[in-house]
Amino acid sequence: MKEIDEKELKTAIEKAFAARQYSYVPYSNFRVGACLVAADGEMISGCNIENSSFSATNCAERTAIFKAILEGKRDFKYIVIVGGKEGTEDFDFCPPCGVCRQVMTEFCDLHEFNIVLAKSVDEYKIYSLDEIIPFSFNKNHL
Ligand code: THU
Repeated sequence: MKEIDEKELKTAIEKAFAARQYSYVPYSNFRVGACLVAADGEMISGCNIENSSFSATNCAERTAIFKAILEGKRDFKYIVIVGGKEGTEDFDFCPPCGVCRQVMTEFCDLHEFNIVLAKSVDEYKIYSLDEIIPFSFNKNHL
């Protein structure tokens, strides 16, 4: 696990909270924001975007990862995730869904990449990717 700069992390958490406000959540009212931090320090944010079919919903994490890929970024340090029901002030930790974990294995190092679950700029938990998706099927198998 790599060291995370605390000042940079606080900025990334703030950006995840800011992105959360743009979430499109008419079905769940559950707003999620993410901020993906690239190796060069650039921050790419994302929000969840729901769909009436439900299955076409895109999570905040994947929105950020796909945006980053489009912008030519391929090397990532960590992602911050914040989530909670519309109007809540009292955040719980919001772990990424299985699909987002799988997408992370495509672009992020299993041992070096971190997932930061934040309740606020001062309260967060840090995991490595291999911790949250052990025994993954990934590109190394092909
Ligand atoms: N969601 C995310 O965006 N990220 C997660 O890590 C968990 C779930 C979204 C999908 C859906 O719009 C809403 O939260 C409720 O599942």
